[in-house]
Amino acid sequence: MLNSKVHALINDQINKEFYSAYLYLDFSNYFKAHGLDGFANWYMIQAQEERDHAMLFYTYLQNENMTVTLEAIAKPDKIFTDHMSVLEAGLEHERYVTSLINDIYGAAYDVRDFRTMQFLDWFVKEQGEEETNANDMISKMELFGSDPKSLYMLNQELAARVYTAPSLVL
Ligand SMILES: [Fe+2]
Repeated sequence: MLNSKVHALINDQINKEFYSAYLYLDFSNYFKAHGLDGFANWYMIQAQEERDHAMLFYTYLQNENMTVTLEAIAKPDKIFTDHMSVLEAGLEHERYVTSLINDIYGAAYDVRDFRTMQFLDWFVKEQGEEETNANDMISKMELFGSDPKSLYMLNQELAARVYTAPSLVL
C-alpha cells in the first residue's frame, strides 16, 4: 500500500506527463507550421518520451496494486511569439516538472517509502537531462537562430533525432 499523499501525487503526475506530451506536440505543430521540420521532429520525439513517462507512472501504480484515475488533459496554453519563445517555454516547463518530481520524492521520503524513492531516482536523473537539453536548444538558437544558413543546418541536426524507448523498464 502506498501512502495516500504519495499515491495522489503519482496519479497526478500521470496527467502532468500526458500534458507534457500534449505541450510538446504543440511545439512540434508550431515548428511544422513554420517550415522547420527538424525542430518539429525533435519535439515530436520529446512528446513520445513524455507519453512513456506517463506510462511508467501508470504502470508503477498498477504494479503496487493502487488505483489509477485518469483526468482530463489541459489544453496547451503557451503563447509563442517567435522560435525562441517556444524553446524558453520548454525550459520553464521542464523546471516545473523537476519541481513536481522533487515534491513526490519529498512525500515518499517523509514516509520512508524507499521503493518509490528508488523508482523516482530514474526521473531525477532524467529531469537533469531534460533541463540540459532545453538549455542547449536555447544556446543553439542564440548562436545560430538569426542566420538563415545556420538555422537551416541546426534544423538538419535536429531532424536526425530518433526515438529510443526509456531505459527504465517496470
Ligand atoms: Fe517527463
